Amino acid sequence: MTLTFTDTTEDIIDLHVVTAQDLDSWLNSADARTRTWVETFGFTAAKGQAVLIPAQDGTASLALAGLGNDRDRRRGRFLLSAAAKSLPLGTYRIASDMAQAQLETECLGWLLARYHFDRYKPGASNVPGLVAPSTIDAGRIEAIAAGEALTRDLINTPASDMGPAELETAARDLANTHGATCDVIVGDDLIMQNFPMIHAVGRASPRAPRLIDMRWGSTGPKLTLVGKGVCFDTGGLDLKPAASMGLMKKDMGGSATVLGLAHMIMSLGLPLQLRVLIPAVENAVSGNAFRPQDVLQSRKGLTVEVNNTDAEGRLVLADALALADEEETDLIISMATLTGAARVAVGPDLAPFYTDDDTHATALTSAASQVADPVWRMPFHEPYEAMIEPGIADLNNAPKGGFAGSITAALFLRRFVDRAPYMHFDIYGWQPSAAPARPVGGVGQGARAVLAALHAMLDL
Ligand code: BES
Ligand code: ZN
Ligand code: ZN
Repeated sequence: MTLTFTDTTEDIIDLHVVTAQDLDSWLNSADARTRTWVETFGFTAAKGQAVLIPAQDGTASLALAGLGNDRDRRRGRFLLSAAAKSLPLGTYRIASDMAQAQLETECLGWLLARYHFDRYKPGASNVPGLVAPSTIDAGRIEAIAAGEALTRDLINTPASDMGPAELETAARDLANTHGATCDVIVGDDLIMQNFPMIHAVGRASPRAPRLIDMRWGSTGPKLTLVGKGVCFDTGGLDLKPAASMGLMKKDMGGSATVLGLAHMIMSLGLPLQLRVLIPAVENAVSGNAFRPQDVLQSRKGLTVEVNNTDAEGRLVLADALALADEEETDLIISMATLTGAARVAVGPDLAPFYTDDDTHATALTSAASQVADPVWRMPFHEPYEAMIEPGIADLNNAPKGGFAGSITAALFLRRFVDRAPYMHFDIYGWQPSAAPARPVGGVGQGARAVLAALHAMLDL
């Protein structure tokens, strides 16, 4: 699905965007006929409300879209896209002045509102077209929308059609589109090339585990993105209960998000050297599955006692992070649907992130609010290090009690990065109920915030 601006010069309807507070002053400067029509219609500029105003001859003269009041806008984002949905199909042009960042966000929201997952049930979007405002970089917004659509498509595709091999294909397709390289280590070669934990987690599935390694760009600072690619998480032998397993096709949401972000970076031609690492596995149940209390060797040499095979994400990510950190890198970012604890702590709308670098944290937080991609900083709280240290190995993948589950998972991952600055996102990757520009289903989190913060974080 392509989410683009409408390229036409014909039959364009001017769309005036008004807040509830501004409606009166807008009406005061309108002609009497328009005022009467707006009042007859009952338009109050409530969020999601829109009205088309006819000319004398019955054609569309202009349209009004409501952005609601201050509270509505604090509570929600992409509110223009909600109003766009209630407009008749056609092509619209935003005719109101808006701050640049808000205009870009609302345009992106409009494009994203056109997204629907149509792989198994084709259908047209019911959202009208939007002409790109002349003051924004339309190609940039389209690249961001395309990256987000890729993320959503990958997450929404069920595990039957999105196993490790299909995730590899998606990465290869993306690499081909942008002239990137893509190397993949599959199955028993993971043992030969020293990725023992990726192999251990993925070996029970007939769909072979693999490590996807994509590179793009030859000059500039080095950025490595690492994404959790668990194509389905049954929990392994510590099997998840049905209610918890239900959504686990989304357990490759971290990899889907880093691929979407990679698309944005490469389309925009950012002056950096990008590497994307995705351990792609299915956490399955079988006679040869890894077991509770097994002790695994890791690539880095640290030993790991498996106290729950359902804490598999940190195992596969650890080997990928160790590889990432073997070369000089300016920033390593991991993204993963890593813990249920993160979901409990901040819910589905906020992306919790960890970093030791206060400057990076500040840059990310302010970029996130500029681009309406909310994030929340969490602490690498050192006193909890003891919780991930069991008796008989260097590390424990599943501390008892579940205290601070997202923090202990993040601390576990940090043990595998010694050299580069490290940032980690424990995302949810799923929109549980429909919101403006975000239908129920897979959703990217943090990618647009990272994109907007890269200039500051990498001195681009
Ligand atoms: N993929 C899950 C985490 C998850 C669950 C993310 C629900 C989003 C929604 C992960 O592999 C997992 O099961 N983690 C366990 C770890 C625990 C056993 C230490 C968890 O969070 O319960
Ligand atoms: Zn799990
Ligand atoms: Zn998982």
